[in-house]
Amino acid sequence: MKPLFASIALTALIAVPFSAHAQFAKPEDAVKYRQSALSVMGTHMGRVGAVVKGEKAYDKASVESDVAVIETMSRLPWSAFPAGSNLSNSKAKPEIWKEQDKFKAAAEKMQSEVAKLSAAAKSGDQNAIKAAFGETGKACKSCHDDFRNK
Ligand code: HEC
Repeated sequence: MKPLFASIALTALIAVPFSAHAQFAKPEDAVKYRQSALSVMGTHMGRVGAVVKGEKAYDKASVESDVAVIETMSRLPWSAFPAGSNLSNSKAKPEIWKEQDKFKAAAEKMQSEVAKLSAAAKSGDQNAIKAAFGETGKACKSCHDDFRNK
């Protein structure tokens, strides 16, 4: 039994600094998770954007469904920026970990704009959708300007 206990103890020791921050086993997992959520969010923003720009016909149900995905995705990435996950395949700027309050505020700002976009999508008011989409896009860009490498 002794070697088994020893290896469990060692695993626990290695896992501590990271698990204190998040539920990811490895920093790579956190990067993959946040990039995946952001990528899906971006895809559905693009679909709504095409409608807003008039490139695609407006269909209430499909805009609502795209916005529902955006809303769900908009909650996911922020717990996946644990300390130590600024890996070379990530575009996250070190400022994320130096200015955590500002980063968190930027995430919350975007989520509140997405909530308005969701209300607009449910109302079916195309002008309101357009306005809320614009504000959401600004909130994305503002965070990217400050916290994402080009
Ligand atoms: C609070 C900051 C913040 C907000 C708000 C934000 N992003 Fe990002 N986004 C990031 C960071 C940081 C990365 C880089 C993540 C990485 O590579 O580890 C990123 C990466 C991305 C990516 C690339 C994902 C990939 O494939 O690697 C897309 C697409 C994206 N964001 C879309 C959006 C959209 C659309 C919005 C608004 C609805 C948005 N983001 C709002 C910080 C933000």
